[in-house]
Amino acid sequence: MKDLAGKTAFVTGAASGIGLGVARALAQAGAKVMLCDIEEAALKTALEGLRRTNVDVDSVKADVSLKAELQAAADATIARYGKVHILVNNAGVGGGGDYGQWTDASWNWTLGVNLMSVIWGIEIFGPLIEKHGEGGQIVSTASIAGLLAAATASYNVTKYGVVALSEGLRASLAPRGIGVSVLCPGFVRTQIMNSRRNLPLRFSGAVESLPTEGPVAEFVSAAVSAVANGVDPLYVGELVREGIENDWPYIFTDTEFEPAIEARFAAIKQGFDRIRARKPRR
Ligand SMILES: NC(=O)c1ccc[n+]([C@@H]2O[C@H](COP(=O)([O-])OP(=O)(O)OC[C@H]3O[C@@H](n4cnc5c(N)ncnc54)[C@H](O)[C@@H]3O)[C@@H](O)[C@H]2O)c1
Repeated sequence: MKDLAGKTAFVTGAASGIGLGVARALAQAGAKVMLCDIEEAALKTALEGLRRTNVDVDSVKADVSLKAELQAAADATIARYGKVHILVNNAGVGGGGDYGQWTDASWNWTLGVNLMSVIWGIEIFGPLIEKHGEGGQIVSTASIAGLLAAATASYNVTKYGVVALSEGLRASLAPRGIGVSVLCPGFVRTQIMNSRRNLPLRFSGAVESLPTEGPVAEFVSAAVSAVANGVDPLYVGELVREGIENDWPYIFTDTEFEPAIEARFAAIKQGFDRIRARKPRR
């Protein structure tokens, strides 16, 4: 995907933060972009803002945690642009509480938005990309929490899932002309810490409030300030554009967590070291 001019991209979670940064960077590179989001008013504002820069963009509202809505958004993209080359599975939510606080509703919300939408996105858009034979790219937004279990349980699980899915599909989609990248951002200056603004109606009242004291509350308060001082989302969008142009397997936003990830690899290696001299009984 060396030349993005004239190609079509579908970006989820495009009304805010990283998704909007990606949509803007791709549109600036000459791609046509279909912005998809659950938050209608923010989507309208994002679309109007981008159109002022004279780019070819449109929008479709969908709750990506519902497969039928994602399918309808794909149909709308084909109806509008004819083809699609780039899928950016980016919509995501901070999710529910940690051990002792979680509920089925909070798991279902987080799994639905952060993981099932990525699985369905690939299932729905993969064949659409394959069909035109011009090649394409799938980028899915995981997190540093996809490589380090550093956030709440449901968030970590969904983000590890996105990394596993992307790593596994890279080899099987390459011969079909589709590159696969996973975006693992560190802290980015977005509205992620206010994810509950878009809690789908079917979960309302069923997702626990986050605790106001204790370790999770401390984690949340530190994360709020780290996100407020995070990387510029348009800078992340420009990295994603570069990642698409060069088929990067992993797209990172900064090196803040590299030592912690190295420490995780070292802990895994220690696990092997512990049993290295033994001969497994078979
Ligand atoms: N901001 C960070 O520090 C950070 C770090 C690592 C990973 N991420 C990931 O980046 C992605 C983008 O988040 P962000 O930080 O830009 O936050 P954000 O809240 O600014 O943007 C997320 C967008 O997703 C949309 N969305 C939420 N639920 C949806 C649904 N059911 N259907 C469709 N759209 C939905 C929201 O309306 C919003 O526009 C997420 O996957 C998040 O987990 C963010």
